[in-house]
Parts: sequence; structure tokens; C-alpha cells
Amino acid sequence: MTSDDDGLLRFNVFNKPVVLATETDSGSVAGKLWSVSLVLLDYFQKLGPETFADKKILELGAGVGLLSIALSRAGASVTCTDLPSALPMLDENCEKNKNADSGACRVTALGWGVEGFEESGIAQEMQTNGDYDYIICADLCYDESLHDILVETLQRITGPKTVVYLIYIDRMNFDIMLNVKLCEAEDPEGTDKEFRIDMVKDTDYDCLGVEGIHFYKVMYN
Ligand SMILES: C[S@@+](CC[C@H](N)C(=O)[O-])C[C@H]1O[C@@H](n2cnc3c(N)ncnc32)[C@H](O)[C@@H]1O
Repeated sequence: MTSDDDGLLRFNVFNKPVVLATETDSGSVAGKLWSVSLVLLDYFQKLGPETFADKKILELGAGVGLLSIALSRAGASVTCTDLPSALPMLDENCEKNKNADSGACRVTALGWGVEGFEESGIAQEMQTNGDYDYIICADLCYDESLHDILVETLQRITGPKTVVYLIYIDRMNFDIMLNVKLCEAEDPEGTDKEFRIDMVKDTDYDCLGVEGIHFYKVMYN
């Protein structure tokens, strides 16, 4: 990653350029690039573009969009989501990185929780296109009051074969409570589906010097 005088961050991802605007001065949570994204990006790059080519991927709380744009560079069809207030920056970054040599990266509003899901049109997208292969959750557990609605969303967007990449930093000890909520969640449709959480071993990824990383692959079936 490099940062130039124009304030843009530049990356080489899957041997292709990615350029990102951020809002480092605004105090906005969504306008910054959070460090675990870089750890996940490094992990994805080591898996190689073939893991993601032609896959259907949805990112929750995408922030400035690095991971969504990177995965589209690998040839994936990505639905990049966040709160409506975060969409102008996401749109700008996806537009900057539009490339004939990439998969699609479509930006859409998705606030967590039942209401946000119903307003988003994601249910219709899933009916037309089928389940997502991967869901990306990078640094979304920093506010315990959001855990319940995050679980509600994951229950609605995770198909039986979908792999959720869940990565976060244990900042204040309660981030891990999301795992407890996932394990205790009862399926809203009354089925016996439950979340299974597998830890990604710290020898399987490079933490890039970031301390306190929790990294899991989650399934719901
Ligand atoms: C710490 S940032 C992480 C951003 C990005 N994933 C990264 O790692 O750089 C948390 C993100 O979650 C989003 N977010 C917070 N609450 C949300 C909610 N209720 N519904 C949808 N997104 C939310 C924020 O807008 C922000 O983009």
C-alpha cells in the first residue's frame, strides 16, 4: 500500500491496481480503512484469485470498499453494502476502480437488522442469483449494541454452503460476545439451523503486526 500527495491509497491486488479515497479527517467510522481489512486482504491474496473468480460475494459494513473492490479484481461478482451515509464514498471508490478486466462491484444500502434487510432488496437478489458463496465481515463487532442486528442479518443472507469470513480486533473484550450471540441464535424460521464457528489458525494468516486479531470462518446450516 502507498499513499501519495493526492491523498489516495494505492494497492496492488491480484497484480492489478486498486486506488482508494478515504476520509481520515472526518471522524467517520466508515470513511477509514481499518487494519484488519489489510490482514484479510493479505489472506485472500495468498488464497489466490482462482478462489474468488466467478463467485458471488456480499460484504457487510464495507467502509471504503477495499475488500469488495479487491475481490472484484479477482473476478468475483460483489455486492458491496453499508449504511446509506457510507454509500457516496463507496460509490466513488467503486467508480474509480471500474475495469473491464474485473468482475462486478455493485454498491447497495444494507443497514443490519430485519428492517434494513427488507428495505435493501437483497432478498430479491438472492432469489434471482442464488446464495452467496462468501460473506465478508471485517471489523464489524466494535459496538456490542449492534451484535443482535448483525446476527439477524447474517441469518438472512447466509445460505447452507456460504462461508462467512469474520475478522475483528478484540479492542474492549466484548467484541468476542458476537460469537456467543451467533452460537445462541435461534433460526427465525424455526428450523434447526445454527451457526458453526471455526477459528482460522494464526499460523494460517499473517497478522501483519496487528495484535488481538480474531479470525473465523462461519457457516449457517
Ligand atoms: C470499523 S468500520 C469497518 C469498515 C471496513 N469493513 C474495514 O474493515 O475497513 C465498521 C463499518 O460497519 C458499518 N456499520 C456500522 N453499523 C452498521 C449498521 N447498523 N448497518 C450497516 N453497517 C453498519 C459502518 O458504516 C462501517 O463502515
